[in-house]
Amino acid sequence: MVPQWFIEEKRDGREHAEADLRAWVRGIADGSLPDYQIAAWLMAAYLNGLSEAETATLTDAMMRSGECLAWDLPAPTADKHSTGGVGDKISLPLAPVCAALGLAVPMISGRGLGLTGGTLDKLESIPGFNVRLSVADFRRIVADVGCCLIGQTDTLAPADRRLYALRDVTGTVPSIPLITASIMSKKLAEGAQHLLFDVKFGSGAFMRTRADAHRLAESLIATGRRLGRRCRALITDMDQPLGRAVGNALEVREALETLSGRGPWDIRALTIEEAAHLALSAGRFADLPLARRAAAKALADGSALRRFRAMVAAQGGTLDAPLPTAEIRVPVPAPRGGFIEHVNAETIGRVALELGAGRVKVTDTPNLAAGLDALLQQGDVVTPGQPLCFLCADTERRAESLVEQTLAAFTITDSQPPERELIAETLIG
Ligand code: URA
Repeated sequence: MVPQWFIEEKRDGREHAEADLRAWVRGIADGSLPDYQIAAWLMAAYLNGLSEAETATLTDAMMRSGECLAWDLPAPTADKHSTGGVGDKISLPLAPVCAALGLAVPMISGRGLGLTGGTLDKLESIPGFNVRLSVADFRRIVADVGCCLIGQTDTLAPADRRLYALRDVTGTVPSIPLITASIMSKKLAEGAQHLLFDVKFGSGAFMRTRADAHRLAESLIATGRRLGRRCRALITDMDQPLGRAVGNALEVREALETLSGRGPWDIRALTIEEAAHLALSAGRFADLPLARRAAAKALADGSALRRFRAMVAAQGGTLDAPLPTAEIRVPVPAPRGGFIEHVNAETIGRVALELGAGRVKVTDTPNLAAGLDALLQQGDVVTPGQPLCFLCADTERRAESLVEQTLAAFTITDSQPPERELIAETLIG
């Protein structure tokens, strides 16, 4: 395969032969292809697209560019991937609920960047919690506890790391086939048999519209099917933050409340729905209502919380030491009374970032205690002057400077708004 001919083929909108595409990905992974040729091909693929067959080949070749884990456990293995959002801490209660339902959950998560938080940063706010485990320890904890949450290893889908870094600087990130191959190659390399994708849409999501989220979900499912993995996808609303807390340690507290049978309704609802789909896919229950009831029971009877505690202990952490807490907690008073009609997730995400909870650059270190707490949600009643939320920061100046911006996220109305539709669609592969 001559690299420039391969680039020309995509530039002219033609389909690649499978062997050429596989050789191309080998060249990306082994460093023999230069950045400028990969970047040129990325732009051609971005503009002219990849067919379903090409997307599946690209995904498979990227997965095979590194280590592929295989699980030999009595329990079925399951994992989920969320495209990320503001206040999305679902992985924290989900993994132990699934473990309590008899699934084994080897979950490899990411760090936050920009508006969306990362599961690893949240977990690292638990004193002692270690997300950098060897594959041997990862395997042992999944087998012993039923779930383990770690960070990306260098050996998993290395072609994606090079491709993603180049996409990031060449304006080629928002391409459905390239996103599909990037997400799916990593998930397939983790080896879980049952996969669920939470594809989010709205102001706080990577995909702004429901139609784009639907297209990505369909592409993920079609690619899974071609590669022999049946997947499910939920298309969920991320126009408003999830839960009442945004920020690392604040979200861990909310996850613990949820695991104690309380917590905000939306965190509970998504956790139950996602766990039920994974358990049903794995054949643990006869139908979805039964699986939902079992997931709700695991939250109510403490069995999921026990799994979470066991996982935290196995990963070197403790829930008996205090979580990081911000010194400063500034209320954002409601300008009027009424009902909360809408809370803009993008604005809340930006405020969280400016409070220090996130990263602008990958090299930034987040303030684990910072963020927004006790956020009112759509449908809540508010009286004039009542806090719409609290801004948690390291200095009063920083928190005070963000009060006006936070206020702009809230719309207050005189009449009760309709209930929020959290799960817009379910796709089953
Ligand atoms: N997340 C990924 O892992 N890859 C993408 O391309 C986009 C989101």
